[in-house]
Amino acid sequence: MAGKSRLFRPVTIRGLELANRIAVAPMCQYSATDGVAGDWHLQHYGSLVASGPGLVVMEATAVEADGRISPADLGLYSDASEVALARLVKAIRPFGQARIAVQIAHAGRKGASQVPWAGGGALTAAEGSWPTISASPIPFNAGWPTPREIGPYDIDRLRHAFADAAVRADRAGVDIVEIHSAHGYLLHQFLSPLTNKRDDVYGGPLDNRMRFPLEVIRSVRRALPHSKPLGIRISASDWVEGGFTPDEAVRYLVACKNEGVDYVCVSSGGLIADAKIPVRAGYQVDFAWRIRRETGLLVRAVGLITDPDQAEAILGNERADMVALGRAFLDDPRWVWRAAAALGEPVPYARQYERAQPKLWPGARRRVNGMAAG
Ligand SMILES: Cc1cc2nc3c(=O)[nH]c(=O)nc-3n(C[C@H](O)[C@H](O)[C@H](O)COP(=O)(O)O)c2cc1C
Repeated sequence: MAGKSRLFRPVTIRGLELANRIAVAPMCQYSATDGVAGDWHLQHYGSLVASGPGLVVMEATAVEADGRISPADLGLYSDASEVALARLVKAIRPFGQARIAVQIAHAGRKGASQVPWAGGGALTAAEGSWPTISASPIPFNAGWPTPREIGPYDIDRLRHAFADAAVRADRAGVDIVEIHSAHGYLLHQFLSPLTNKRDDVYGGPLDNRMRFPLEVIRSVRRALPHSKPLGIRISASDWVEGGFTPDEAVRYLVACKNEGVDYVCVSSGGLIADAKIPVRAGYQVDFAWRIRRETGLLVRAVGLITDPDQAEAILGNERADMVALGRAFLDDPRWVWRAAAALGEPVPYARQYERAQPKLWPGARRRVNGMAAG
């Protein structure tokens, strides 16, 4: 039962109710085999669902094998990957109230990279590299391979790959499909003039640069049941002179809305390796606020949101309709419990964990007062 806070008030996306406005941001786990989810995903997502967020967004999930960031990314391009995702969704759903989204993605020129703990650089041939593609043949960074420029055949294939992955997600029982159009991955590579130097109908003015992303969105929307919510994640700025701008983001998102996108998660950066990003608490919230005002889309804010009062203020000041937290959930999967307690809301304990409540367990008070007190 929701109390007075905004954070714990339900929100409805295309008829689907989320019990509260807290989302777990998509976070690559680099723990899949041939795109197939395994036991790590079960414990990771299971634990997050059990903690009470309204939404858990599963990590960037490649629409084709060559669209993976690393060889250990999740995918939705094979029967085995679909079956594993279906099993995962079925297993974790009863653990909590969370709706489950999956982020479908193509890495483009940022693909074929090492997992972060192996360095995160471009894979060598010995490590199993594969050829990458992009809007234009411009490498991500020094030492990275030059991607092949996408041709008409690829455009068609990729539209279908995104739509097929969305169908697989739907069949696997996922509640929401989110298209990754942020962080310098393939769709963003088309959007930004820094990575899109094409002279055909897919390059040049914004109307052309957003043509391919919009075609992808259209084919995904058509592939999904009418009732299924569709979201998008964007980088509202490249933080580099001459890059994609918030003005362009607004125009792109108005077009996305016309194609049937229901909400946007507003992030930034990721396209240019050495961009100077003024990272501080809530540093992307002003982008979210503007986009919310100017597009009328449901908006999720993300980026260094760590504190319940901060999250509550973002919603209270109508900067956004939802918030997503990433690293705060890795640090403390029970973040939702802390937020509920801080805001005077009923805490969404899983029944199995109810004995950890402060009124039943003195240890909780010691934790809240700091380890030093104990
Ligand atoms: C380990 C890790 C993996 C991530 N993987 C993804 C991803 O798959 N897709 C995505 O859009 N963002 C990804 N991100 C970015 C987060 O979703 C989020 O936008 C970012 O961490 C900022 O939010 P935070 O300050 O709450 O962590 C990842 C971040 C982390 C820390």
